[in-house]
Amino acid sequence: MLSKFRSIPKSVTIHAQRLLSTQDVIAREEKYSAHNYHPLPVALTKGQGVFVWDVEGKKYFDFLSGYSANNFGHCHPKIVSVLCEQAGVLHHTSRAFFSDMFGEYAQMVTKMFGYDKVLPMNTGVEADDSAIKLARKWGYYKKKITKGKAEIIFANDNFWGRSLAAVSASTDPASYEGYGPFMPGFSLVPYNDLPSLEKAFQNPNVCGFMIEPIQGEAGVVIPSEGYLKGIRELCTKYNILWIADEIQTGLGRTGKPLAVDYENVKPDILVLGKALGGGVYPVSACLANDDVMLVMEPGTHGSTFGGNPLGSRVAIAALQVLQEENLVENSYKMGELFRAGLENIKSNKLITGVRGKGLLNAIVIDRNYARAWDICLSLRDNGLLAKQTHHDVIRFSPPLVMTEADIQESIEIIQKTLNNFN
Ligand SMILES: Cc1ncc(COP(=O)(O)O)c(C=O)c1O
Repeated sequence: MLSKFRSIPKSVTIHAQRLLSTQDVIAREEKYSAHNYHPLPVALTKGQGVFVWDVEGKKYFDFLSGYSANNFGHCHPKIVSVLCEQAGVLHHTSRAFFSDMFGEYAQMVTKMFGYDKVLPMNTGVEADDSAIKLARKWGYYKKKITKGKAEIIFANDNFWGRSLAAVSASTDPASYEGYGPFMPGFSLVPYNDLPSLEKAFQNPNVCGFMIEPIQGEAGVVIPSEGYLKGIRELCTKYNILWIADEIQTGLGRTGKPLAVDYENVKPDILVLGKALGGGVYPVSACLANDDVMLVMEPGTHGSTFGGNPLGSRVAIAALQVLQEENLVENSYKMGELFRAGLENIKSNKLITGVRGKGLLNAIVIDRNYARAWDICLSLRDNGLLAKQTHHDVIRFSPPLVMTEADIQESIEIIQKTLNNFN
Protein backbone atom coordinates (compact mmCIF):
# COMPACT_ATOMS: atom_id res chain seq x y z
CA MET A 1 0.00 0.00 0.00
CA LEU A 2 2.71 2.41 1.03
CA SER A 3 4.72 1.88 -2.13
CA LYS A 4 1.63 2.72 -4.18
CA PHE A 5 1.38 6.08 -2.42
CA ARG A 6 5.06 6.67 -2.92
CA SER A 7 5.01 6.15 -6.67
CA ILE A 8 4.20 9.66 -7.83
CA PRO A 9 3.04 9.75 -11.46
CA LYS A 10 5.78 11.02 -13.78
CA SER A 11 3.59 13.88 -14.93
CA VAL A 12 3.61 15.34 -11.43
CA THR A 13 6.73 17.39 -11.69
CA ILE A 14 6.92 21.14 -11.78
CA HIS A 15 8.46 20.96 -15.25
CA ALA A 16 5.68 18.80 -16.63
CA GLN A 17 3.02 20.99 -15.01
CA ARG A 18 4.38 24.00 -16.88
CA LEU A 19 3.93 22.17 -20.18
CA LEU A 20 0.20 21.79 -19.56
CA SER A 21 -2.16 24.02 -21.51
CA THR A 22 -4.87 26.09 -19.81
CA GLN A 23 -7.42 23.50 -20.91
CA ASP A 24 -5.32 20.66 -19.42
CA VAL A 25 -5.00 22.48 -16.09
CA ILE A 26 -8.72 23.18 -15.94
CA ALA A 27 -9.70 19.62 -16.92
CA ARG A 28 -7.44 18.09 -14.26
CA GLU A 29 -8.68 20.38 -11.51
CA GLU A 30 -12.32 19.74 -12.48
CA LYS A 31 -11.71 16.00 -12.38
CA TYR A 32 -9.89 15.78 -9.06
CA SER A 33 -11.17 18.73 -7.04
CA ALA A 34 -14.50 19.33 -5.37
CA HIS A 35 -16.64 21.68 -7.43
CA ASN A 36 -17.22 24.21 -4.68
CA TYR A 37 -15.91 27.16 -6.71
CA HIS A 38 -16.72 28.50 -10.15
CA PRO A 39 -13.32 29.82 -11.23
CA LEU A 40 -12.74 32.12 -14.15
CA PRO A 41 -11.18 29.95 -16.86
CA VAL A 42 -7.56 31.04 -16.50
CA ALA A 43 -4.69 28.81 -15.30
CA LEU A 44 -2.02 30.72 -13.41
CA THR A 45 1.55 29.65 -12.88
CA LYS A 46 3.49 32.74 -11.74
CA GLY A 47 2.99 36.03 -9.90
CA GLN A 48 5.10 39.12 -9.32
CA GLY A 49 3.88 42.35 -7.75
CA VAL A 50 0.53 43.30 -9.27
CA PHE A 51 0.84 40.81 -12.12
CA VAL A 52 0.18 37.11 -12.67
CA TRP A 53 0.97 34.95 -15.68
CA ASP A 54 -0.92 31.99 -17.07
CA VAL A 55 0.62 28.71 -18.23
CA GLU A 56 0.80 30.02 -21.81
CA GLY A 57 2.78 33.06 -20.63
CA LYS A 58 0.01 35.69 -20.89
CA LYS A 59 0.33 38.46 -18.32
CA TYR A 60 -2.58 39.91 -16.33
CA PHE A 61 -3.23 42.57 -13.72
CA ASP A 62 -4.47 40.78 -10.61
CA PHE A 63 -7.55 42.73 -9.49
CA LEU A 64 -8.68 40.15 -6.96
CA SER A 65 -5.47 39.79 -4.90
CA GLY A 66 -6.48 36.37 -3.65
CA TYR A 67 -9.67 37.86 -2.13
CA SER A 68 -7.59 40.66 -0.55
CA ALA A 69 -4.93 38.42 0.98
CA ASN A 70 -2.24 39.67 -1.42
CA ASN A 71 -2.19 43.29 -0.27
CA PHE A 72 1.60 43.37 -0.70
CA GLY A 73 1.59 41.94 -4.23
CA HIS A 74 2.77 38.55 -5.37
CA CYS A 75 6.10 37.25 -4.08
CA HIS A 76 7.05 40.35 -2.10
CA PRO A 77 10.83 39.84 -1.64
CA LYS A 78 10.90 40.65 2.09
CA ILE A 79 7.91 38.45 2.91
CA VAL A 80 9.17 35.52 0.80
CA SER A 81 12.67 35.76 2.25
CA VAL A 82 11.38 35.81 5.84
CA LEU A 83 9.08 32.86 5.07
CA CYS A 84 11.97 30.80 3.69
CA GLU A 85 14.38 31.79 6.45
CA GLN A 86 11.99 31.01 9.32
CA ALA A 87 10.92 27.73 7.67
CA GLY A 88 14.55 26.60 8.05
CA VAL A 89 14.81 27.67 11.69
CA LEU A 90 11.56 26.84 13.52
CA HIS A 91 8.21 26.53 11.76
CA HIS A 92 5.78 24.94 14.18
CA THR A 93 5.75 24.20 17.87
CA SER A 94 2.08 24.47 18.91
CA ARG A 95 1.30 26.67 21.87
CA ALA A 96 2.04 23.82 24.23
CA PHE A 97 5.37 25.72 24.47
CA PHE A 98 6.39 29.34 24.31
CA SER A 99 8.20 30.61 21.23
CA ASP A 100 10.25 33.76 20.73
CA MET A 101 8.51 34.60 17.44
CA PHE A 102 4.94 34.42 18.71
CA GLY A 103 5.68 36.78 21.58
CA GLU A 104 7.35 39.25 19.24
CA TYR A 105 4.39 39.17 16.87
CA ALA A 106 1.85 39.41 19.71
CA GLN A 107 3.61 42.49 21.09
CA MET A 108 3.77 44.11 17.66
CA VAL A 109 0.17 43.51 16.57
CA THR A 110 -1.33 44.57 19.91
CA LYS A 111 0.76 47.77 20.07
CA MET A 112 -0.04 48.60 16.45
CA PHE A 113 -3.81 48.37 16.91
CA GLY A 114 -4.04 49.43 20.57
CA TYR A 115 -5.37 46.30 22.33
CA ASP A 116 -4.05 44.43 25.38
CA LYS A 117 -4.04 40.94 23.88
CA VAL A 118 -4.18 38.92 20.68
CA LEU A 119 -5.80 35.53 20.17
CA PRO A 120 -3.98 33.91 17.21
CA MET A 121 -5.86 31.78 14.70
CA ASN A 122 -5.26 30.79 11.07
CA THR A 123 -8.16 31.50 8.73
CA GLY A 124 -10.69 34.30 8.82
CA VAL A 125 -13.65 32.13 9.65
CA GLU A 126 -11.84 30.64 12.65
CA ALA A 127 -11.00 34.08 13.99
CA ASP A 128 -14.61 35.27 13.59
CA ASP A 129 -15.87 32.11 15.25
CA SER A 130 -13.41 32.71 18.10
CA ALA A 131 -14.63 36.30 18.46
CA ILE A 132 -18.18 35.00 18.85
CA LYS A 133 -17.04 32.48 21.46
CA LEU A 134 -15.29 35.28 23.32
CA ALA A 135 -18.42 37.44 23.21
CA ARG A 136 -20.64 34.60 24.44
CA LYS A 137 -18.31 33.79 27.32
CA TRP A 138 -18.01 37.46 28.21
CA GLY A 139 -21.83 37.60 28.11
CA TYR A 140 -22.10 34.80 30.68
CA TYR A 141 -19.16 35.77 32.93
CA LYS A 142 -19.34 39.56 32.84
CA LYS A 143 -22.81 40.57 31.66
CA LYS A 144 -24.36 37.73 33.69
CA ILE A 145 -26.60 36.45 30.88
CA THR A 146 -28.48 33.27 31.84
CA LYS A 147 -26.60 30.16 30.76
CA GLY A 148 -27.40 29.10 27.19
CA LYS A 149 -29.29 32.29 26.33
CA ALA A 150 -26.61 34.52 24.80
CA GLU A 151 -27.50 36.17 21.47
CA ILE A 152 -25.18 37.49 18.78
CA ILE A 153 -26.52 39.92 16.18
CA PHE A 154 -25.28 40.10 12.58
CA ALA A 155 -26.30 42.28 9.64
CA ASN A 156 -28.16 41.02 6.61
CA ASP A 157 -25.80 40.12 3.74
CA ASN A 158 -22.93 39.48 6.12
CA PHE A 159 -20.14 37.19 4.96
CA TRP A 160 -17.62 35.69 7.30
CA GLY A 161 -16.75 32.36 5.75
CA ARG A 162 -18.18 28.94 5.21
CA SER A 163 -18.17 27.04 8.50
CA LEU A 164 -21.47 25.85 9.99
CA ALA A 165 -21.55 28.82 12.34
CA ALA A 166 -20.82 31.26 9.50
CA VAL A 167 -23.52 29.88 7.22
CA SER A 168 -25.93 29.87 10.18
CA ALA A 169 -25.57 33.67 10.22
CA SER A 170 -25.83 34.03 6.45
CA THR A 171 -28.79 35.49 4.52
CA ASP A 172 -27.48 34.10 1.22
CA PRO A 173 -29.17 30.80 0.26
CA ALA A 174 -26.10 29.84 -1.79
CA SER A 175 -24.20 29.78 1.52
CA TYR A 176 -26.70 28.04 3.79
CA GLU A 177 -29.06 25.95 1.65
CA GLY A 178 -28.70 22.25 2.39
CA TYR A 179 -26.40 22.68 5.38
CA GLY A 180 -28.86 22.88 8.30
CA PRO A 181 -29.58 22.48 11.17
CA PHE A 182 -28.09 25.81 12.09
CA MET A 183 -26.51 27.44 15.11
CA PRO A 184 -29.03 28.90 17.60
CA GLY A 185 -28.57 32.24 19.32
CA PHE A 186 -27.94 34.22 16.12
CA SER A 187 -30.21 37.00 14.86
CA LEU A 188 -30.13 39.52 12.05
CA VAL A 189 -30.77 43.22 11.52
CA PRO A 190 -30.66 45.25 8.29
CA TYR A 191 -27.21 46.68 7.50
CA ASN A 192 -26.73 50.43 7.92
CA ASP A 193 -29.85 50.80 10.05
CA LEU A 194 -29.24 52.14 13.55
CA PRO A 195 -32.90 52.27 14.69
CA SER A 196 -33.29 48.53 13.92
CA LEU A 197 -30.08 47.84 15.76
CA GLU A 198 -31.23 49.75 18.82
CA LYS A 199 -34.51 47.81 18.77
CA ALA A 200 -32.61 44.50 18.67
CA PHE A 201 -30.39 45.69 21.54
CA GLN A 202 -33.46 45.85 23.82
CA ASN A 203 -32.98 42.11 24.32
CA PRO A 204 -30.85 41.84 27.50
CA ASN A 205 -29.35 38.55 26.29
CA VAL A 206 -27.50 40.20 23.41
CA CYS A 207 -23.77 39.98 24.10
CA GLY A 208 -22.27 40.90 20.72
CA PHE A 209 -22.84 42.60 17.38
CA MET A 210 -20.55 41.43 14.59
CA ILE A 211 -20.25 43.52 11.45
CA GLU A 212 -17.98 44.29 8.49
CA PRO A 213 -17.40 48.09 8.39
CA ILE A 214 -17.72 47.74 4.60
CA GLN A 215 -19.46 44.61 3.34
CA GLY A 216 -16.97 43.09 0.89
CA GLU A 217 -18.55 39.92 -0.43
CA ALA A 218 -21.99 41.54 -0.48
CA GLY A 219 -20.61 43.79 -3.22
CA VAL A 220 -18.49 46.45 -1.49
CA VAL A 221 -21.44 48.00 0.35
CA ILE A 222 -20.47 51.18 2.20
CA PRO A 223 -22.61 52.36 5.13
CA SER A 224 -23.69 55.97 5.57
CA GLU A 225 -21.37 58.27 7.48
CA GLY A 226 -22.14 58.02 11.18
CA TYR A 227 -23.13 54.36 11.12
CA LEU A 228 -19.92 53.12 12.73
CA LYS A 229 -20.01 55.87 15.37
CA GLY A 230 -23.65 54.97 16.01
CA ILE A 231 -22.72 51.30 16.51
CA ARG A 232 -20.06 52.31 19.01
CA GLU A 233 -22.49 54.46 20.96
CA LEU A 234 -25.25 51.83 21.01
CA CYS A 235 -22.87 49.03 22.02
CA THR A 236 -21.55 51.14 24.88
CA LYS A 237 -25.07 52.21 25.95
CA TYR A 238 -26.42 48.64 26.05
CA ASN A 239 -23.25 46.92 27.30
CA ILE A 240 -22.81 44.85 24.16
CA LEU A 241 -19.48 43.93 22.55
CA TRP A 242 -18.87 45.35 19.09
CA ILE A 243 -16.98 42.85 16.96
CA ALA A 244 -15.56 44.45 13.80
CA ASP A 245 -14.75 41.93 11.11
CA GLU A 246 -11.90 43.68 9.29
CA ILE A 247 -10.63 40.49 7.66
CA GLN A 248 -11.16 41.96 4.21
CA THR A 249 -11.20 45.70 4.96
CA GLY A 250 -8.25 45.84 7.37
CA LEU A 251 -4.54 46.44 6.84
CA GLY A 252 -4.78 49.29 4.37
CA ARG A 253 -7.25 47.74 1.94
CA THR A 254 -9.69 50.67 2.25
CA GLY A 255 -7.06 53.43 2.43
CA LYS A 256 -6.85 53.59 6.24
CA PRO A 257 -5.13 51.08 8.55
CA LEU A 258 -8.65 49.89 9.44
CA ALA A 259 -11.99 50.81 7.86
CA VAL A 260 -13.28 51.86 11.33
CA ASP A 261 -10.62 54.60 11.27
CA TYR A 262 -12.81 56.52 8.83
CA GLU A 263 -15.02 57.34 11.86
CA ASN A 264 -12.28 57.18 14.51
CA VAL A 265 -14.01 54.48 16.50
CA LYS A 266 -12.65 51.44 18.29
CA PRO A 267 -14.41 48.07 18.35
CA ASP A 268 -14.29 45.89 21.46
CA ILE A 269 -13.04 42.95 19.41
CA LEU A 270 -11.13 43.51 16.19
CA VAL A 271 -10.80 40.57 13.79
CA LEU A 272 -8.01 40.48 11.20
CA GLY A 273 -6.99 37.85 8.65
CA LYS A 274 -6.20 37.51 4.97
CA ALA A 275 -3.35 40.03 4.38
CA LEU A 276 -2.05 39.50 7.93
CA GLY A 277 -0.29 36.43 6.54
CA GLY A 278 1.31 38.42 3.72
CA GLY A 279 -0.60 36.33 1.18
CA VAL A 280 1.80 33.45 1.77
CA TYR A 281 0.48 31.86 4.94
CA PRO A 282 -2.87 31.75 6.77
CA VAL A 283 -2.69 34.03 9.80
CA SER A 284 -5.71 35.54 11.55
CA ALA A 285 -6.27 37.26 14.86
CA CYS A 286 -8.81 38.49 17.38
CA LEU A 287 -7.67 41.55 19.31
CA ALA A 288 -9.32 42.67 22.54
CA ASN A 289 -8.57 44.20 25.91
CA ASP A 290 -8.03 42.14 29.05
CA ASP A 291 -11.58 42.55 30.41
CA VAL A 292 -12.77 40.60 27.36
CA MET A 293 -9.85 38.40 26.37
CA LEU A 294 -9.16 37.02 29.82
CA VAL A 295 -12.56 35.35 30.05
CA MET A 296 -10.89 32.58 28.05
CA GLU A 297 -8.90 30.43 30.42
CA PRO A 298 -6.20 27.85 29.61
CA GLY A 299 -7.63 24.82 27.86
CA THR A 300 -10.92 26.43 26.87
CA HIS A 301 -9.99 27.41 23.30
CA GLY A 302 -7.13 26.66 20.93
CA SER A 303 -5.71 25.87 17.52
CA THR A 304 -2.86 23.53 16.55
CA PHE A 305 -1.31 26.02 14.13
CA GLY A 306 -2.50 29.35 15.59
CA GLY A 307 0.46 31.50 16.62
CA ASN A 308 3.10 29.21 15.15
CA PRO A 309 6.56 30.72 14.67
CA LEU A 310 6.43 30.67 10.88
CA GLY A 311 3.07 32.44 10.69
CA SER A 312 4.16 34.87 13.40
CA ARG A 313 7.33 35.82 11.56
CA VAL A 314 5.44 36.27 8.29
CA ALA A 315 2.83 38.45 10.02
CA ILE A 316 5.59 40.63 11.53
CA ALA A 317 7.04 41.07 8.03
CA ALA A 318 3.61 41.84 6.55
CA LEU A 319 2.94 44.53 9.18
CA GLN A 320 6.44 45.97 8.63
CA VAL A 321 5.98 46.12 4.86
CA LEU A 322 2.61 47.83 5.33
CA GLN A 323 4.36 50.60 7.28
CA GLU A 324 7.74 50.77 5.51
CA GLU A 325 6.22 51.06 2.05
CA ASN A 326 3.44 53.50 3.07
CA LEU A 327 0.91 51.13 1.60
CA VAL A 328 -2.03 52.54 3.55
CA GLU A 329 -1.42 55.99 2.07
CA ASN A 330 -0.79 54.50 -1.36
CA SER A 331 -4.05 52.57 -1.17
CA TYR A 332 -5.91 55.79 -0.34
CA LYS A 333 -4.27 57.75 -3.19
CA MET A 334 -4.51 55.02 -5.80
CA GLY A 335 -8.10 54.39 -4.80
CA GLU A 336 -9.01 58.04 -5.42
CA LEU A 337 -7.31 57.87 -8.81
CA PHE A 338 -8.97 54.60 -9.70
CA ARG A 339 -12.48 55.78 -8.81
CA ALA A 340 -11.90 59.04 -10.72
CA GLY A 341 -11.02 56.87 -13.73
CA LEU A 342 -14.12 54.76 -13.22
CA GLU A 343 -16.31 57.86 -12.88
CA ASN A 344 -15.02 59.01 -16.27
CA ILE A 345 -16.24 55.84 -17.89
CA LYS A 346 -19.46 55.79 -15.89
CA SER A 347 -21.23 57.37 -18.85
CA ASN A 348 -21.07 53.89 -20.34
CA LYS A 349 -24.66 52.70 -20.02
CA LEU A 350 -23.49 49.34 -18.65
CA ILE A 351 -22.41 50.86 -15.32
CA THR A 352 -25.10 51.88 -12.85
CA GLY A 353 -22.82 52.52 -9.89
CA VAL A 354 -19.22 52.99 -8.79
CA ARG A 355 -18.34 52.62 -5.13
CA GLY A 356 -15.43 51.91 -2.86
CA LYS A 357 -12.79 53.20 -0.49
CA GLY A 358 -9.04 52.88 -0.99
CA LEU A 359 -8.41 49.87 -3.20
CA LEU A 360 -11.62 48.03 -2.34
CA ASN A 361 -13.90 49.08 -5.18
CA ALA A 362 -16.76 47.82 -7.29
CA ILE A 363 -18.85 48.66 -10.30
CA VAL A 364 -22.49 47.69 -10.61
CA ILE A 365 -23.51 46.37 -14.00
CA ASP A 366 -26.93 46.92 -15.54
CA ARG A 367 -28.22 43.39 -16.02
CA ASN A 368 -30.28 44.53 -19.03
CA TYR A 369 -27.09 44.99 -21.02
CA ALA A 370 -24.58 42.39 -19.83
CA ARG A 371 -23.74 39.77 -17.26
CA ALA A 372 -20.91 40.55 -14.84
CA TRP A 373 -19.44 37.11 -15.57
CA ASP A 374 -19.20 37.87 -19.32
CA ILE A 375 -17.49 41.17 -18.57
CA CYS A 376 -14.99 39.34 -16.33
CA LEU A 377 -14.23 36.95 -19.20
CA SER A 378 -13.66 39.86 -21.51
CA LEU A 379 -11.50 41.68 -18.94
CA ARG A 380 -9.42 38.51 -18.76
CA ASP A 381 -9.00 38.49 -22.54
CA ASN A 382 -7.80 42.08 -22.28
CA GLY A 383 -5.29 41.30 -19.51
CA LEU A 384 -7.07 42.01 -16.20
CA LEU A 385 -8.41 39.45 -13.75
CA ALA A 386 -11.42 40.35 -11.62
CA LYS A 387 -14.35 38.39 -10.28
CA GLN A 388 -17.99 39.26 -9.87
CA THR A 389 -19.70 39.07 -6.50
CA HIS A 390 -23.34 38.11 -6.98
CA HIS A 391 -24.60 38.61 -10.53
CA ASP A 392 -24.18 42.27 -11.16
CA VAL A 393 -21.21 43.56 -9.18
CA ILE A 394 -17.55 43.35 -10.20
CA ARG A 395 -15.09 43.89 -7.39
CA PHE A 396 -11.76 45.58 -8.13
CA SER A 397 -9.28 44.96 -5.31
CA PRO A 398 -5.72 44.97 -6.69
CA PRO A 399 -2.62 44.71 -4.46
CA LEU A 400 -1.86 47.90 -2.54
CA VAL A 401 1.49 48.27 -4.35
CA MET A 402 -0.25 49.66 -7.48
CA THR A 403 1.46 52.65 -9.11
CA GLU A 404 -0.17 55.53 -10.97
CA ALA A 405 0.92 53.99 -14.26
CA ASP A 406 -0.70 50.67 -13.25
CA ILE A 407 -3.95 52.47 -12.41
CA GLN A 408 -3.97 54.29 -15.75
CA GLU A 409 -3.27 51.11 -17.70
CA SER A 410 -5.92 49.14 -15.86
CA ILE A 411 -8.53 51.88 -16.33
CA GLU A 412 -7.77 51.78 -20.08
CA ILE A 413 -8.35 48.01 -20.07
CA ILE A 414 -11.65 48.38 -18.20
CA GLN A 415 -12.80 51.16 -20.52
CA LYS A 416 -11.88 49.24 -23.66
CA THR A 417 -13.64 46.13 -22.33
CA LEU A 418 -16.86 47.94 -21.44
CA ASN A 419 -16.91 49.80 -24.76
CA ASN A 420 -16.97 46.44 -26.54
CA PHE A 421 -20.26 45.61 -24.81
CA ASN A 422 -22.03 48.75 -26.08
C1 LIG B 1 -15.18 39.88 5.96
C2 LIG B 1 -14.74 38.45 5.90
N1 LIG B 1 -14.71 37.73 7.03
C3 LIG B 1 -14.31 36.44 7.04
C4 LIG B 1 -13.94 35.82 5.87
C5 LIG B 1 -13.52 34.37 5.91
O1 LIG B 1 -12.14 34.27 5.75
P1 LIG B 1 -11.49 32.85 5.39
O2 LIG B 1 -11.93 32.51 4.00
O3 LIG B 1 -10.01 33.08 5.53
O4 LIG B 1 -12.00 31.86 6.38
C6 LIG B 1 -13.96 36.53 4.66
C7 LIG B 1 -13.58 35.89 3.41
O5 LIG B 1 -13.78 36.37 2.32
C8 LIG B 1 -14.38 37.88 4.68
O6 LIG B 1 -14.43 38.61 3.56
